[in-house]
Amino acid sequence: MKVLANDGISKSGINALEKGGFEVITTTVAQEQLINYINENDVSVLLVRSATTVRKDLIDACPSIKIIGRGGVGMDNIDVDYAKSKGLHVINTPAASSHSVAELVFAHFYGLARFIHHSNRDMPLEGDSNFKELKKAYAKGTELKGKTLGVLGFGRIGQATAKVALGVGMKVIAFDPFIEKVDLELNFFDDQKVNFKIQTISKEDVLKEADFITLHVPAQKEYVIGTKEFSLMKDGVFIANAARGGVMDEVALVKAIESGKVAGAALDVFEKEPKPEIQLLMNASLSLTPHTGAATNEAQDRIGTELAEQIISLLG
Ligand SMILES: NC(=O)c1ccc[n+]([C@@H]2O[C@H](COP(=O)([O-])OP(=O)(O)OC[C@H]3O[C@@H](n4cnc5c(N)ncnc54)[C@H](O)[C@@H]3O)[C@@H](O)[C@H]2O)c1
Repeated sequence: MKVLANDGISKSGINALEKGGFEVITTTVAQEQLINYINENDVSVLLVRSATTVRKDLIDACPSIKIIGRGGVGMDNIDVDYAKSKGLHVINTPAASSHSVAELVFAHFYGLARFIHHSNRDMPLEGDSNFKELKKAYAKGTELKGKTLGVLGFGRIGQATAKVALGVGMKVIAFDPFIEKVDLELNFFDDQKVNFKIQTISKEDVLKEADFITLHVPAQKEYVIGTKEFSLMKDGVFIANAARGGVMDEVALVKAIESGKVAGAALDVFEKEPKPEIQLLMNASLSLTPHTGAATNEAQDRIGTELAEQIISLLG
């Protein structure tokens, strides 16, 4: 059976599919030629990321397709309900990048806590002329060990972030309106396992008690963090948004930085993508990345192998 990975797939995914007896085509076929190509090549599985769209017309015109797979999470580019109503399997890999996002949050937090976002800007300009002053300016760093991480949204990525935090010696508290308690298992290199039970608490308590706050909620109508929420936080709090632009009020964030409430903030996502507000881009207290939370080689590998496993179990 043939698999067309129209937006690419990792080598590990290709290997797993070939082992399972599938032929993998990695040609990128232009959207308007896709129907013809699928029919001419009798493709059984169509894999996409976000570039290729799979709408009703394609589903109707390509009877050979049995599975539509999305490498990643969002399925806005696929008519999922229609495909399912026609008996097709629609699969994705929602957990593959959770740990990558969690590590990016910590890259930001460690950087912010030691002013690395500042010193990476200053050292190229003043590192030779102003070394001692810079050393003094960045002297009052903060350790993460022993501090409290507040997680808002305790789903896949929230839990992955909690595991990283526990591993580096932080206390973890969390709020999630739909999750009461979570069992987390930390796995170490020598097969040791340590289990933690974390009971979620109120949003207000998380905001009041946390030294570091991280958001892992889905997109929603209202801000999850706005002026009122900032006012509840500890002075000198660190905060990260690697969830979705629009869950944190960016104007309120800038004000909270200016007032000293927020010591440092990290943004991987923005209300206006791909053109974030210039006042954010120029704000020296922000640690910024261009929506690269999931962008690791390991996540791409897991996406490929998770898709392969699902395809083999459905059709193999
Ligand atoms: N930065 C990146 O590159 C990147 C990559 C992947 C996913 N994401 C984003 O990360 C977010 C979380 O993804 P996930 O896979 O963990 O999703 P998930 O569905 O596993 O978890 C989200 C959790 O948030 C909870 N929640 C909903 N509304 C809430 C609220 N108002 N307050 C507190 N909790 C709330 C839900 O109950 C759920 O448990 C999503 O917004 C996703 O788009 C970002």
